[in-house]
Amino acid sequence: MAATSHWLSVRVHAVRAEALDVQSFDLRAPDGGALPAFTAGSHVDVEVSTATGPLLRQYSLCNDPAERHRYVIGVGRDAASRGGSVALHDQLRAGAILRIGAPRNNFALDEAAPHSVLVAGGIGITPMLAMARRLALLGRPWTLYHCVRSPCRAAFAEELQALAPPGGPGRVVTVVDGLPGAVRLDLAALVREASHGAHFYCCGPVPMLEAFGRATAGVGDARVHVEWFSAPAPAATADAPAGSFSVQLKRKNRRFDIPADQSILQVLLDGGIDVDHSCREGLCGTCETRVLAGMPDHRDPILAGRKDPPQDRMLVCVSRCAGPELVLDL
Ligand code: FES
Repeated sequence: MAATSHWLSVRVHAVRAEALDVQSFDLRAPDGGALPAFTAGSHVDVEVSTATGPLLRQYSLCNDPAERHRYVIGVGRDAASRGGSVALHDQLRAGAILRIGAPRNNFALDEAAPHSVLVAGGIGITPMLAMARRLALLGRPWTLYHCVRSPCRAAFAEELQALAPPGGPGRVVTVVDGLPGAVRLDLAALVREASHGAHFYCCGPVPMLEAFGRATAGVGDARVHVEWFSAPAPAATADAPAGSFSVQLKRKNRRFDIPADQSILQVLLDGGIDVDHSCREGLCGTCETRVLAGMPDHRDPILAGRKDPPQDRMLVCVSRCAGPELVLDL
């Protein structure tokens, strides 16, 4: 099972059907106490028991970040997945105890933006719901586009509409794009017509995120924010074949050879080095490590997708080295 530093036990307080194939789970501390604070856009790791063994899955928190007494996650049932969402839908009931990681945020909201444009595909609405709550509380201008295949899949629709009363700073647009003759959201037009300095956020399936990346290609990295919940095809993040290289751990004063067919993370774990990690797919950000020297070859959608990828940090579960050696702050 994956390792992350901070684990919590929570009790399932309530389970709610939010839309077709979408359930929310209200998670609280078993003793009713306060949970660690989180910010809009945060996710938690959830340990899920399945017939084939335990899985670790990441779910965004969708309740109000001001709440300390609970976390709410929304889970879309995905029969084509490896079984995590199906197990939660079919087996998790009120009263059950779950192990989750402390909240982490790779999808932070810029609360000072003059306008926030939020684009959600399907269950990608969950981090956006927390963002909309926060922006509504702050009175900042925002527009949320929720793309769904049919109206019965529009989870949290009533809560969203309540956050955007007429005349207020928020607006919610539900785009039904799965019915015959339906028109998809024109992301390029949306970016083109947004007000000066707007920030753009997207969470949804891979094709939507790739289209969003093309639409925002001319926008600076600082104003484009993306949350991946599954990994894109390898070609999107790894053009070059993987080669071997070495990694020096500065603080531990140790060196490891990384063969072409193994990740830095795996080699370090096999070598007895304790590295926080979770998804192993470059999605959750848990394994982010500072780079002290050498050129990282980013293979994850979080950092590789940037126009100006950082050279001083990397996700060691999937990313590699563009030269012969990396020196890491480990
Ligand atoms: S373990 Fe999730 S990004 Fe590396």
